[in-house]
Amino acid sequence: MKPIGTPLSPFATRVMLLGSGELGKEVLIALQRLGVETIAVDRYENAPGQQVAHHARTITMSDPQALRALIEAEKPDLVVPEIEAIATQTLEALEAEGLVRVIPTARAARLTMDREGIRRLAAETLGLPTSPFRFCDSEAELQAAIAQGIGYPCVVKPVMSSSGKGQSKLDGPADVATAWAHAMAGGRVGPGRVIVEGFIDFDYEITLLTVRALDADGTVATHFCEPIGHVQVSGDYVESWQPQPMAAAALEGARVIAKAVTDNLGGQGLFGVELFVKGDQVWFSEVSPRPHDTGMVTMVTQWQNEFELHARAILGLPVSTALKSPGASAVIYGGVDANDLVFDGVDEALRVPNSDIRLFGKPESFVKRRMGVALVFDADVERARVQAKLAASKVKPRRA
Ligand SMILES: Nc1ncnc2c1ncn2[C@@H]1O[C@H](COP(=O)(O)OP(=O)(O)OP(=O)(O)O)[C@@H](O)[C@H]1O
Ligand SMILES: [Mg+2]
Repeated sequence: MKPIGTPLSPFATRVMLLGSGELGKEVLIALQRLGVETIAVDRYENAPGQQVAHHARTITMSDPQALRALIEAEKPDLVVPEIEAIATQTLEALEAEGLVRVIPTARAARLTMDREGIRRLAAETLGLPTSPFRFCDSEAELQAAIAQGIGYPCVVKPVMSSSGKGQSKLDGPADVATAWAHAMAGGRVGPGRVIVEGFIDFDYEITLLTVRALDADGTVATHFCEPIGHVQVSGDYVESWQPQPMAAAALEGARVIAKAVTDNLGGQGLFGVELFVKGDQVWFSEVSPRPHDTGMVTMVTQWQNEFELHARAILGLPVSTALKSPGASAVIYGGVDANDLVFDGVDEALRVPNSDIRLFGKPESFVKRRMGVALVFDADVERARVQAKLAASKVKPRRA
């Protein structure tokens, strides 16, 4: 990588974020602090990250022509996918043509945007433990897959979806039709394929943030953050904490799985490896080749949070995953469908000891849209969880 230049000069180091939500916004801030010139792309105007970048561009990132035209016009040194819904075939073509470096690699972006790509890689190519699974293209196939071995309870998800969209748990044959209909309505690219997975009765689930960064000798080394515990409701994260206490064998197993997956995906950057744990047993669930929503807690728990780690790693700079303090995060939802919210109670939230909050600045709110997050550090991680939820509850969004 060439040395970092001066932003807005011909020598600038230019980085383009594809997706500029709350996670992209923090990556952009981290890049800004290192003197990088930033281009924030999203599908709508005034997205959170566009509010803190040098340049804002609004395009349909799943449109191959629009994506290619933008990248060719802007000529960024690095393209950093921050969401899954991107024309990844265009990124692969541009990378193959040598026109751009994609973080961590265009192949990783393609494989992880589709549950089939990443699941087949993990289970079939790498032989990692996962839930039993089948892919189905019709309700009849779904019924057959469950009858022929997956069994109940099981989980059905569109292959292209995130944040729990279109996902349901099935407890018996009566649930199949509704699960199929829900998956068809919730997929990112219209009607299509689903994955059905056997339900894993885990004790807890974690995100293991894993960083591939350059060593002093220029080779990639793998670094692990402390494990992050989290609670998901309807497939969407509501609270997280770090560190999640783990048996030594389970932590070792989690690291082995995370190393295998991230080694294969390659490149430089931070990955969020999602794992289920029961006793000493660990299952791979999925991986984001980018900062993870449950990792927002690292804004109060690590010396270098997950966004700073990603920024450093992609620029070829050294990283430290050291923990600063245990802590927790709790999501602040919009609570209403409205534009231009105002937030009451921010002062009260910040009166909770050791607390901080982020309001993302999203122009439009939905009842279940994540509009902010409360963060609390505390030597006692259980106390941090209680206090983070308390701080989040003090923030009251309402119509202006
Ligand atoms: N096979 C399974 N067994 C038990 N629980 C599961 C299973 N699959 C998913 N879950 C639960 O649902 C949550 C969301 O699933 P998953 O991560 O696959 O979907 P997602 O839509 O990508 O979610 P996100 O975008 O929030 O990561 C998991 O974190 C876990 O709590
Ligand atoms: Mg997930």
